[in-house]
Amino acid sequence: MTIAQSFESAFDFEKFIAVRFEDLGFTIRINNKQNEPGYDFLAMKNQKIIAVQVKNFKNKVSIRQVTKFRDFMDRSNIKEGAIISSKGFSAPAIAAIAAEKVQNFYMGHLEENKFIWDYLSKDIDHAPQEQKSNHYISVFTAKGGVGKTVVSAHLAGAFAISGYKVSLIDGDPEENLYRLTGSKASVPNSRTGDNNTINVAKVSDWNENTNSQESVTIFDCSPAFERNSLDLLKKTESFIIPTSLSPLDIGSKAEVLLRTIEQIRNCNTHASIFIIMNKYYAQSKQDQKRYHDVVAIISALEDKKCLLMDPEETVSIRESKILRNWGSEPDLAFKTIGGRCHPRDDFLKLTEYLMEHLDIT
Ligand SMILES: Nc1ncnc2c1ncn2[C@@H]1O[C@H](COP(=O)(O)OP(=O)(O)OP(=O)(O)O)[C@@H](O)[C@H]1O
Ligand SMILES: [Mg+2]
Repeated sequence: MTIAQSFESAFDFEKFIAVRFEDLGFTIRINNKQNEPGYDFLAMKNQKIIAVQVKNFKNKVSIRQVTKFRDFMDRSNIKEGAIISSKGFSAPAIAAIAAEKVQNFYMGHLEENKFIWDYLSKDIDHAPQEQKSNHYISVFTAKGGVGKTVVSAHLAGAFAISGYKVSLIDGDPEENLYRLTGSKASVPNSRTGDNNTINVAKVSDWNENTNSQESVTIFDCSPAFERNSLDLLKKTESFIIPTSLSPLDIGSKAEVLLRTIEQIRNCNTHASIFIIMNKYYAQSKQDQKRYHDVVAIISALEDKKCLLMDPEETVSIRESKILRNWGSEPDLAFKTIGGRCHPRDDFLKLTEYLMEHLDIT
């Protein structure tokens, strides 16, 4: 029986993909185990056995969905895997896999009946996304030492490896960021020459017109609200508020967060606000209670555009040694060669989240 006969519905997307694999000379074996949803079929040719998962979703496949399939592969000892998506993949999802140089892995979508490979482990070559809008992101917490500079720089790096042209602006008169990086921060393990560096500017030297091709502008703020450029704060479309659950960072009743949000809203009512846990680690019971208290305090504000990101379910920046030690050179704390890297994974997840929730194209 050929693959074309083994499906009931002529329009079944899985069948359609399996037939494309047959066209490439593969033999197909459908996964009949209903309770084992890890893959849809095996595509076999010579010694090669690829477990293929087909995703027919409304949205692009996210990092989380790719990770789930890779975890399944690890658990089941599957050596080669492919995800074929009807809508393609988020740019950070592709960047995460490419930066890690994952072996024996393929990610593709179909265009006019032909596979377009977004990631091929043996031939890494994916074109950066088209540049469209310029989106302003400010990283601000009304508190020193919570990670504003670390988050600004590495978020810029994650946008850069996802194919965006990024401008990073040091808005703090202390100039900690600029003193560290100079006018360029390097992004290790970037695949396209253009994105190996991010331009860094002091706010006093920054000019909107000279940076007009940038698609994302990230502004590392001073913790003293009034020391920041009001013009940039007003232009900002999304604020990132890094914090930890430590009472020293957040205040015993989240006063630091409340003050931060109030200061933002006094000058900007339209921006989205995302509170993200930084220096995050597995929570103790006490941390969990504190987190739930903070959730209640933030919901009581009834600010629909202010979101506290769930560190377990959505995204957080984990406490990490390479982030703690970052700063002796302008290279970001992303690994230079393949392999897993928590900061890179976390910042790519944050990038993906922002792309999904904001008008970043
Ligand atoms: N996720 C993390 N894991 C480990 N260390 C971190 C992390 N994020 C920040 N740090 C460390 O915390 C310290 C403060 O970070 P950073 O300078 O980015 O804070 P800041 O909010 O910009 O401070 P300031 O208000 O003084 O500008 C630094 O030593 C940094 O290396
Ligand atoms: Mg700083």
